[in-house]
Parts: sequence; C-alpha cells; structure tokens
Amino acid sequence: MRPSFPLFNTPIDLAHHFWKDLLKKQDLVVDATCGNGKDSLALAKILHPLQGSLLCIDLQKQAIDATKNLIENEIPSFLPQVQFFHQSHAKLPPTPKESTVKLIVWNLGYLPKGDKSVTTKTESTWESIVHGMEILSSGGLLSITCYPGHSEGKKEEEILLQKLSILDPHLWCFTSFFWANRKDSPSLFLIQKKDSV
Ligand SMILES: C[S@@+](CC[C@H](N)C(=O)[O-])C[C@H]1O[C@@H](n2cnc3c(N)ncnc32)[C@H](O)[C@@H]1O
Repeated sequence: MRPSFPLFNTPIDLAHHFWKDLLKKQDLVVDATCGNGKDSLALAKILHPLQGSLLCIDLQKQAIDATKNLIENEIPSFLPQVQFFHQSHAKLPPTPKESTVKLIVWNLGYLPKGDKSVTTKTESTWESIVHGMEILSSGGLLSITCYPGHSEGKKEEEILLQKLSILDPHLWCFTSFFWANRKDSPSLFLIQKKDSV
C-alpha cells in the first residue's frame, strides 16, 4: 500500500497547493489532459466559489465522458461553467475574448488503466505549451506533470526540461520538483509568466 504523508505525496498533491494560491475571482483555467477527471475536479472545487470557469481537453472520448460524469456527480452546479473539447491539445481551443487564461495544466502520459499507446508525445506537447504561453495572462501559471517511468515520458521530460530551462528569466520563472528518493519519480514543472506592472 502507498504510504500516506500529510502535506504531499505526489506531484499532483503539490500542484494543488499552488493552484489554490494562484486562482482568484472569475479566473479561467484549461485542463489540457483531463483524463479521468481528477485534476479537473480539483480545479472545479477551487473555481466554483470564485465563479471561475474551466476548459477540459482530451484526445480520448472516454476521458471526456469520465471527466464530465465526475464533475456532474460531485459538483453539478459547476457543470455550466465547464466546456469540453474532444481533440488534441496541440492547438488549444479558442478562449472567450473577454477572459484570459490564468492556469493551464498538463498531466502528461497515458490514461491510468487505459490504452497505454495513447500517450502524450513530445512534439505535440511542446506545441501545446508554446500556444499556452501565448494565451496565458500576466502572472499566470503553466503546471506540467511528467512521468519518466516509460520511454516516451522520459524523452518528453528531458526535452521539456531543456526547452523550458532557456526561457528568458525576465519574462518567465521556471521551477521543478521531483522526489529525490523515488526511482523514476514523476516531476512537476511550474512556469510562471511575469506579472504586469
Ligand atoms: C495522465 S492522463 C491525465 C490524467 C488526468 N489529468 C486526471 O486527473 O485523471 C493523460 C491524458 O492525456 C491524454 N492525451 C494524450 N495525448 C493527448 C493530446 N495530444 N491531446 C490531448 N490529450 C492527450 C490521454 O488521453 C490521457 O487521458
């Protein structure tokens, strides 16, 4: 059985702390890999009292359905604030003109208990991140969880780390976390856009 720790056990637990700190009234968030909907549900719980909204994307219909069902069961009054996009995140869907995106979340890899061949790929993930950087509001955050325990995930983590490490430090603040005493530990990349002055 996985041991339990009170503050954080996985990159996702850690990410949730930052998401809660960041999000404010009427913010718009994109979950670019909604999968089984756990991250989307966590985001919905933060956004609901803030009257925010959420865009959920996934390449697989079963992931879209699972996320919709989870939110509908757990927090039905938030469902009208959620839009679902059954598509690749390589091109992010258009966002409402009046709002800018405060947070974009990628939880990379394949659907747990799903088809492992449908995994995120380095090239389209990078394309998605570049697009995300463009639509992110000042002071906004990109939150990326990488899984180097499989070969595509290892390549994805290495290349993203290389590319993100050379971002202009006057415009972007990039930090990463990993579990130093766990083999093939997932990592959490957090990239913040400079606040407007
Ligand atoms: C690790 S799972 C996400 C877990 C999810 N965030 C959750 O909380 O349950 C990764 C997801 O990325 C999706 N995916 C893979 N390639 C994609 C792409 N190019 N565009 C959008 N989603 C993709 C998979 O279908 C899978 O559902």
